[in-house]
Amino acid sequence: MALRRILKDGDETLRKVSRPVETIDARTLQLLDDMADTMYDAHGIGLAAPQVGVLKRIFVVDAGDGSGLFEFINPFFLRKEGAQVGQEGCLSIPGRYGEVERPAVVEIQAQDRYGQTFTLQGEGLMAVVLSHEYDHLEGILFKDKARGPLVEG
Ligand code: NI
Repeated sequence: MALRRILKDGDETLRKVSRPVETIDARTLQLLDDMADTMYDAHGIGLAAPQVGVLKRIFVVDAGDGSGLFEFINPFFLRKEGAQVGQEGCLSIPGRYGEVERPAVVEIQAQDRYGQTFTLQGEGLMAVVLSHEYDHLEGILFKDKARGPLVEG
């Protein structure tokens, strides 16, 4: 188990656009493993590579709904439908929360750690997390989209 340091809001790395993963190599697999360890250790439900200082299009998600860990490499949305508004937080903005509008349903395509393409449909919290983590790859934080000021939690 290897934990990586989670960058906090204010670090300019969080504002950069991440680059596609060209080759899934041993470093990529180590990164995926470390990201999952780091996410669980921080009691998060998602973590994107730029949050640990790596500007690659990778994120991990475990929405806590029993479906377990998902790893996304080079993800993109095939579909976004509807809208939902909910309270959101971020491991890079600890202790602060805000209301954000997200799609109600998303369909995402990505590669897994074996380079296999897969698609996943997410609704409810899963749609929120996928949208939130994808935003990290674009240098966007939830506070950019929050309705009104963040609240302490
Ligand atoms: Ni976040």
